[in-house]
Amino acid sequence: MTDFHGRRLRRTPALRALVTETRLHPAMLVAPLFVRPGRGIREEIGSMPGQHRLSVDELPAHAARLLEAGVRSVLLFGLPESKDPDGSGAWADKGIVQQAIRELRRAVGDELAVITDVCLCEYTSHGHCGVLRGASIDNDATLPLLARSAASLVAAGADVVAPSAMMDGQVAAIREQLPDAPILAYAAKHASAFYGPFREAADSAPAFGDRRSYQMDPANRREAVSEILADLDEGADMIMVKPALPALDIVAAARAATNVPIAAYQVSGEYAVICAAAERGWIDRRAAALESLTAIARAGAGVIVSYFALEAAGWLHEMDR
Ligand code: PBG
Repeated sequence: MTDFHGRRLRRTPALRALVTETRLHPAMLVAPLFVRPGRGIREEIGSMPGQHRLSVDELPAHAARLLEAGVRSVLLFGLPESKDPDGSGAWADKGIVQQAIRELRRAVGDELAVITDVCLCEYTSHGHCGVLRGASIDNDATLPLLARSAASLVAAGADVVAPSAMMDGQVAAIREQLPDAPILAYAAKHASAFYGPFREAADSAPAFGDRRSYQMDPANRREAVSEILADLDEGADMIMVKPALPALDIVAAARAATNVPIAAYQVSGEYAVICAAAERGWIDRRAAALESLTAIARAGAGVIVSYFALEAAGWLHEMDR
C-alpha cells in the first residue's frame, strides 16, 4: 500500500471541483466566424454542423449571443465576392473582412476582441496561401501582400492580426508595417488533414498540389519550437499551435519555451469528427468537446480557438450552477 490514495478526493462533485487542476472559462475561447457577401444570410456549412457563413448584417446579432455567453473574442475569415491570382481581396478597403470588422465595431465597440486571419488562400483563384511563380509559392513576393492585408485589416479596426500563411519572415514583414498592432502568429501550423472541413467552409482548397511546401510536417516537434522562437524574434506577441489535439505535445513545448500567451486552434476537422460521431450516437458531444478543450488547456494553451466556443460557454455556465 502506498501513501497515495487518489480516490479520497474523488468522492463527491464538490471535492472534485475543489481539486481540479484545469478550469475552462468562456473568456479564453475564441469563436471563428466565416463572413460572406449578401444580406440576411445564415448559411449552414455542410461539413461543420451548427456553423454558418454569415453575411455582414448578421454579425451584430451573432456578436450579441457570443457576448451574452461570455465569449469575448472572434477570429474572422472571409469569402470574397471574387478571387484573383494575387488575392487582392485580402487588402481591399471594402473587402469582406474589412466590412465585417467595421460592422462589429459599430455594433459592439470594443466589447469583442476582433482577431483577423491574415492569409491569401481565401482570396487567391488557385487557393494557395501565397502568390505563385510557376507551380511554386514565392515566399518573398508574398510578404508585402500579407503586410498590406494586415495593414488594411488594422485600418478597418482589427484588434489583432493573425498571420497563417506559413511564409518565412511573415511576422517581421507585418511588424515592420505595423509597429503597434498585436500579432498572434500561427507559428507552428502543421500541414494537417484536419483542415478539410474549413476548406469547404472558406472555399479555399488548393486547386493543385498541397500545402506541404509551406505548412510544417506534423512529424516535427523541434522544428515547431524553432518556428515559435523565430516568430517571437520577428515581433509576435502571442503564438498559435494548430491543430490542437493532434499537437498537444507542441502546445506543451510552446508553453515551456516561452512566456508569451499560447493559443491553440481546435480546427474544423477536430470539430467535425466530434459532431459526426455524436450524430451517430457513438460519443457524447458535450462530454467529448469539453474533454478535448480541457486537454488543450491542460497542455498549456491559455487561449483556445474553437468552433465549440459559443456552445461550450453555455455548458460552462450550466456547470457553474
Ligand atoms: C488559412 C487557414 C486555414 C485554417 C485557418 N487559417 C486553412 C489552411 O491552412 O488550409 C484552417 C482552420 C480550420 O481547419 O478550422 N491558411
